[in-house]
Amino acid sequence: MTPKPFSISRRRFLKITSATAAASGLPVWFLEREAQAAQQPKRLSPNDRPGIALVGCGGMGRGDATNASRFGEIMAVCDVDQNHLEAVAKQFTKDGKTPAKFSDFRKVMERDDIHVIITATPDHWHTLVNLAAVQAGKDVYGEKPLTLTIDEGKRLVKAARKHNTIFQTGSQQRSDAKFRLACELVRNGRLGKLKEVTVWLPAGLREGPFKSAPAPENLNWDFWLGQTPKVDYLPQRCHVNFRFWYDYSGGTMTDWGAHHNDIALWALGVPAPQSVEAKALTQPIPGGYTAISEYDVQFTHANGVIQHVKSTTADTIGGGVIDPNGQRNGVRFEGSNGWIWVNRGNLTASDKSLLETPLPEGAQRPYKSDDHMANFFECVRSRKLPIADVEIGHRSATVCHLGVIGLRSGLKLSWDGQHEEFTGENAKSGNRYIEREMRKPYDYNFI
Ligand SMILES: NC(=O)c1ccc[n+]([C@@H]2O[C@H](COP(=O)([O-])OP(=O)(O)OC[C@H]3O[C@@H](n4cnc5c(N)ncnc54)[C@H](O)[C@@H]3O)[C@@H](O)[C@H]2O)c1
Repeated sequence: MTPKPFSISRRRFLKITSATAAASGLPVWFLEREAQAAQQPKRLSPNDRPGIALVGCGGMGRGDATNASRFGEIMAVCDVDQNHLEAVAKQFTKDGKTPAKFSDFRKVMERDDIHVIITATPDHWHTLVNLAAVQAGKDVYGEKPLTLTIDEGKRLVKAARKHNTIFQTGSQQRSDAKFRLACELVRNGRLGKLKEVTVWLPAGLREGPFKSAPAPENLNWDFWLGQTPKVDYLPQRCHVNFRFWYDYSGGTMTDWGAHHNDIALWALGVPAPQSVEAKALTQPIPGGYTAISEYDVQFTHANGVIQHVKSTTADTIGGGVIDPNGQRNGVRFEGSNGWIWVNRGNLTASDKSLLETPLPEGAQRPYKSDDHMANFFECVRSRKLPIADVEIGHRSATVCHLGVIGLRSGLKLSWDGQHEEFTGENAKSGNRYIEREMRKPYDYNFI
C-alpha cells in the first residue's frame, strides 16, 4: 500500500516575512539562515536522558538501539514489517512501558520527546529518513553506507550543516583502537613513503535465479521498495540480502567497503581518489543478485598512492572465516619501510618495531574515541563533531560508490573530488550514476 501524501510539520523552520526583512534592512534568506542557526536543538541537562527512536528494526537496528539504550530511552520504533516492529517494541518495553510503534517514519519526526533518530533501514531508505530527521531538528545515528548515491550524500551534508545536526555515521571501526593506531602510524610516516593500500572485502553472494512470491501480510512491500523500481516480492530482495542488489545497495563494495575504505581514507588523510578503474571477476547470474560479487578495483590518489579494493572468498559475507588459510578481510598499508595490516581481529606489521616504537612527542594524533555510540551521545550534549561525522560518512561512501560505478560502467573514470563529478573522456558515462530517478511518491517531496 502506497502511503498518502504527508508533510512533516517544520516547527523549527522560522519563516521570515518580507516586512520583517524590510524593517531590519537585511534580506529574507539571510535572516532565515541566522534564525535557524540560532535554533540549536534543545540542550540536554546532565541528568536528562534523550528520547531515541529507531527507524528500521532489523538486525543492526536492534543492535544499535540496545547500544544506544545505555544513554537514552527508546521512546519509539518504526518499521514497515509489522513482525519486526512488534518484536522490537517488546524488546524495549521497560517498566511496563512499550515504545510507541510507527510504520511511517515521517510521523516519528513530529514527536517532541524524541531527540535522536537511529536509522538502520536498508541503504535505499537512509537518505530520506535522515533528511526528514535533520529537517525536524533531531540528531542522527545513521547506519553505513551513508547513502545509495553520491548525490544523496551531497544533499545530506548540506542539510545537516544547515540544521546544526550532530550526525554520527555507523562506521564504528573509527572507534576501535587497532584501526586508530594503524591510521596514526601511517599518517605519521611510520612506513616511510606510502605506496599502496589494499582493502580486502568479503566477496558477495552470486546466486539465482529466484522465484517471486506473494509479499507476506505483515510487510508493506511498496513502502519497503520506496524510491526503487516497483518489482514483485522476492524474499532474497528483502531483509538482509538487499545488500546484493544494485537497486537497494552496492554489494560488498558498499557494505564492507563502507568500513574498510573509510579506514583507508582516514589513514591517507585525503578527501577522495582521483580515478577509478574496476574489473569484475564474476558476472551476476541472470534473475539472481545483481551486484558483482568478486572484483578487483584500483583507485589512484593525488599523492600517488594506489588503493586496491579486492574481494576475498575466504571470508563469509558477515566477515567470518571460510578458509582459515585464505585472505582475510582488512586493510594493508605498504610503504618503503614495510607494511601494516589491520582488521577487526588483528594489527600486525612486517616488523614488530613498526608497531612497538613509540611515536615522537608532537606526532599527529587522530580523533580519539573508544566507544562509537558513547562518542555520539557525548557530542549530542557538547554539540561538537562526532568521530564519523556526516561529511566523513559521505566521503567514505563516495569511494564505495565510485568503485561500484567503475564496475557498472566498465570504464576508467576520472573523479573531481572538489566538484564531486566525473571529468575527462568517460565523464558522461560516470556522471549518469551520481543520482538516480526516484519512484514517486518516494522522492524528495515525500518528506
Ligand atoms: N555498522 C555495521 O557494522 C553494520 C552491520 C550490519 C548492518 N549495517 C547497516 O544497517 C542497515 C540495516 O541492515 P540490516 O542487516 O539490519 O538489515 P535488515 O534487512 O535486517 O533490517 C532493515 C529493516 O528496515 C526495515 N525497513 C525497510 N524500509 C523501511 C522504512 N521505510 N521505514 C522503516 N523501516 C524500514 C525493514 O523492514 C527491516 O526490518 C544497512 O544499511 C546495513 O548496511 C551496519
